[in-house]
Amino acid sequence: MKVLVVGSGGREHSLCWAIAQSPLCDALVCAPGNAGIAQVAECVDVAAEDVDGLVAYATGNGVDFVVVGPESALVAGVVDRMEEAGIKAFGPNARAAVLEGSKGFMKDLCGKYGIPTAEYGRFDEPDAAKEFILRQGAPIVVKADGLAGGKGVIVCRNENEAYAAIDHIMIEGAFGTSGDEVLIEEFLEGEEASFFALVDGKRAVPLISAQDHKPVYDGDEGPNTGGMGAYSPAPVITPAVAKTIMDRVITPTVKAMAAEGRPYKGVLYAGLMIGPEGPRVLEFNARFGDPECQPLMMLLESDLLEALVACAEGSLDEVTLKWRDESALLVVMATEGYPGYYPKGSEIRDLDKADALDGVVVFHAGTKGENGRILADGGRVLGVTARAPTVAAAQKLAYRAVDTIDWPEGFCRRDIGWRAVGRS
Ligand code: AMP
Ligand code: GLY
Repeated sequence: MKVLVVGSGGREHSLCWAIAQSPLCDALVCAPGNAGIAQVAECVDVAAEDVDGLVAYATGNGVDFVVVGPESALVAGVVDRMEEAGIKAFGPNARAAVLEGSKGFMKDLCGKYGIPTAEYGRFDEPDAAKEFILRQGAPIVVKADGLAGGKGVIVCRNENEAYAAIDHIMIEGAFGTSGDEVLIEEFLEGEEASFFALVDGKRAVPLISAQDHKPVYDGDEGPNTGGMGAYSPAPVITPAVAKTIMDRVITPTVKAMAAEGRPYKGVLYAGLMIGPEGPRVLEFNARFGDPECQPLMMLLESDLLEALVACAEGSLDEVTLKWRDESALLVVMATEGYPGYYPKGSEIRDLDKADALDGVVVFHAGTKGENGRILADGGRVLGVTARAPTVAAAQKLAYRAVDTIDWPEGFCRRDIGWRAVGRS
């Protein structure tokens, strides 16, 4: 079959890398892709949010199956439009993607169906929000309701920070209409982890767990980013914890969405706080995590494309997923300056030397090819990923690969995986 992957990040590179290995895949196209994706797929110049352009490309070029990477395209209804055009697609439709698109919807669903999450209030008016903060006290968490590129959550240590967060979101309009409504949540203690499941509308099949590192600097210091590294599996998610997550979070959510007339298909990504009372949901995402997807793809032994098609067709019962009994760890290399201002266009050399190391794949997150050279074209630029028998060995190999890459304008954290390595 001819497969179209939508997106241009490291997540999409790893999805293309896995799909290209499937015997079911005859041709692979990515819109818009990047310089690394161009090594495994044909890249076409259509933006991930250009739903009309994507549908026109797919219908005009014999695409049989579409895999959507980013949430923006899902919330914009790309799956609905592909299905209307008679093309199967992996990912939730717009009615189901609201699970990520509206935090208020997600919280109300958890409340109605008893899915464990933080206590919360929803407000569309700043004074009422501030009164609630005064009553609850700090620490407390303030969140813009809609999509805010991962930046719409402010963890506040005291009441004044929380009032300022309300002003920032609701009065200054920092996230546009995504902040017309805010959610104020109880602060949860514990260790964060990500859990992924494939869902076909009725059933869920767990993938393996992962952990990412959001802060930009070593020791989890500095501002949050999209993720500076990740590893899988996450030791905090023991088999017993994984069972609890399936029984109390994933399966009830799949049933709840079906009962609400919004059957969920695609990958269900639960961001969780694992605390003394067990796992509680911080957020749901309607897509694979980036960078968590990349280590997952390095560990998957089964045919990814077959599993994604089964999700879209409602036949997940025919799928069992096999995973390598190893660890995978990814180090993000970013342009100096990220997550603030950073220049584009610096040259990256010796990527092939890193890729040639046994067990290493360098996934491209923001690169551009020009006259045979690879140039940095974003904040997060590379995901240097290593697979090895233990997480400590994967960490060592990933940094060996990082050190072979010649890119003076780039930087990375030096402690990715510290929690897991400390436990092993
Ligand atoms: P979210 O996008 O909702 O997952 O929030 C982004 C980050 O803010 C999470 O990864 C947590 O580190 C933190 N966070 C969100 N909600 C809470 C909460 N209720 N308690 C503690 N930390 C939180
Ligand atoms: N790595 C976090 C995310 O994809 O949202």
